[in-house]
Amino acid sequence: MTDKTTDALTGLVHDSFGGTADPRLKHILERLTHHLHAFVNDVDLSYDEWEKAIDFLTRTGQKCDDVRQEFILLSDVLGVSMLVETLNDVETPDATDSTVLGPFHMIDSPARALGENISPQSDGQSCVVHGAILDAHGHPVPGAVVDVWQADAHGFYDVQQPGVQLRGNGRGLFTADDDGRFRFTSVVPSHYPIPTDGPVGELLAATSRHAYRPAHIHFIVTAPGYRELTTHIFVNNSQYLDSDAVFAVKDSLVRDFVPRPAGSDNPCGVTEDFVEAEIDIILHKESGDQL
Ligand code: BEZ
Ligand code: FE
Repeated sequence: MTDKTTDALTGLVHDSFGGTADPRLKHILERLTHHLHAFVNDVDLSYDEWEKAIDFLTRTGQKCDDVRQEFILLSDVLGVSMLVETLNDVETPDATDSTVLGPFHMIDSPARALGENISPQSDGQSCVVHGAILDAHGHPVPGAVVDVWQADAHGFYDVQQPGVQLRGNGRGLFTADDDGRFRFTSVVPSHYPIPTDGPVGELLAATSRHAYRPAHIHFIVTAPGYRELTTHIFVNNSQYLDSDAVFAVKDSLVRDFVPRPAGSDNPCGVTEDFVEAEIDIILHKESGDQL
């Protein structure tokens, strides 16, 4: 490089990707160069700040292991995960809204029978969750696989409490019946803080942001020929619905968890008092063609 203006540098880096065979990769790298350089220019980044950023990203990577994904967490608190969800949702207006995956889906959920308790080790208010997996015309999707996971009534996932909760507590893998229906029992989850003992926690503390997510249950629903759906249901009366640390609440996903007295009818045969939540989940055809 002979001309050391910042524009010339940006141009050189942009052009260095000119030979990229994959046109999409080429486009992404060229635009990344443009926006990244513009950002560094815009904030007039000092060498000290660059070093801090490198250190922050290094420690973010070092915090990752088989049960911790600090980079996903960083994407979540910066709103990038939700931005990607929102951009990709535009093509599926009839389907149930998606929301973020989060970092706690790192182990396989145990296969369970319809109606089974997914949280056998947990105390708390019993809940019954049920609904149907449907296509955009309201037809059932029999055999759809429904993967669920949740925090317990104290706000902890199984993987956060080795030695306290067995792996698989708060998780279940269900196969919808011939009418596309699924059902399970559990405990009402609590709101909880996202992990703050790493670089993402430092970021939240430095910016006076709280770390809490409103109470929710995660779902991934898959069925041959349909687009995979990653979503949650949120507990209607939970704290933090208006200030989720990862910006992932959509009004359409907030569900009433309705108190029922002991002896009330329910599809799981629960006899004590419980709360009931219902959600029908609408999948979009893989091709985008709803016919
Ligand atoms: C979760 O809901 O499991 C989650 C999502 C984003 C960040 C942290 C946790
Ligand atoms: Fe969660």
